[in-house]
Amino acid sequence: MNKDIIINETKIFVKNKLLSEGTGHDWYHIKRVYNLSTYLCEKENGDEFIIKMVALLHDIDDWKFSNNHNTTEDFLKSINVDKESMSKIMKIIKTMSFKGGVQDSTQDSIEGKIVQDADRLDALGAIGIARAFAYGGSKNRVIYDPHIKPMKFKSLEDVKNANNHTINHFYEKLLKLKDLMNTNTAKHIAEERHRFMELFLNEFYYEWNFHKDL
Ligand code: ADP
Ligand code: NI
Repeated sequence: MNKDIIINETKIFVKNKLLSEGTGHDWYHIKRVYNLSTYLCEKENGDEFIIKMVALLHDIDDWKFSNNHNTTEDFLKSINVDKESMSKIMKIIKTMSFKGGVQDSTQDSIEGKIVQDADRLDALGAIGIARAFAYGGSKNRVIYDPHIKPMKFKSLEDVKNANNHTINHFYEKLLKLKDLMNTNTAKHIAEERHRFMELFLNEFYYEWNFHKDL
């Protein structure tokens, strides 16, 4: 099959699956990661087909909201993606997620580095802040509880079971991401978005403590 047709088929498949997803992994997240990945690919040079396919499919089997972990592979088989591309795509998707920082997510290919950067950039800045609170809300977590300090996770089970609040997520993940970017292009974008999150947190604590004594 022609690569453009495969990409289009994949867009339709993913859009149908994630359009009304409510944890911040909706179709528009995928679209932003796709566009950012394409931009990074132009600057950093990688295989555009692999990058686009990974960007589109990277959240379909995610443990955070999906129970079936073979959907992506089944789909790739159904549209006759060649074996070599399929194994490249699957390898990146299976390893690129942060997962509380408890698993090695190092990418050895430029394609993996690029989509991982794009996915992480979308967790930063104003949109990243909105996504974090959307995710926290979907797990019934409070916005903030000053008595619960940031956690050090040892296993994926710890990450899944944590009785946490969303402000902690900034310290457990979001503020660390700028130093974990793979490509220089993404590093620059991450620095700007990082600064905005620091501004947000300062204002948040300022308002939290406003007339604290009333
Ligand atoms: P990853 O799989 O690398 O964690 P995703 O693309 O699945 O990345 O996106 C994770 C999104 O969900 C990010 O925007 C992240 O901030 C949000 N998220 C994940 N875990 C939490 C959490 N415990 N609290 C708040 N937001 C979270
Ligand atoms: Ni994602």
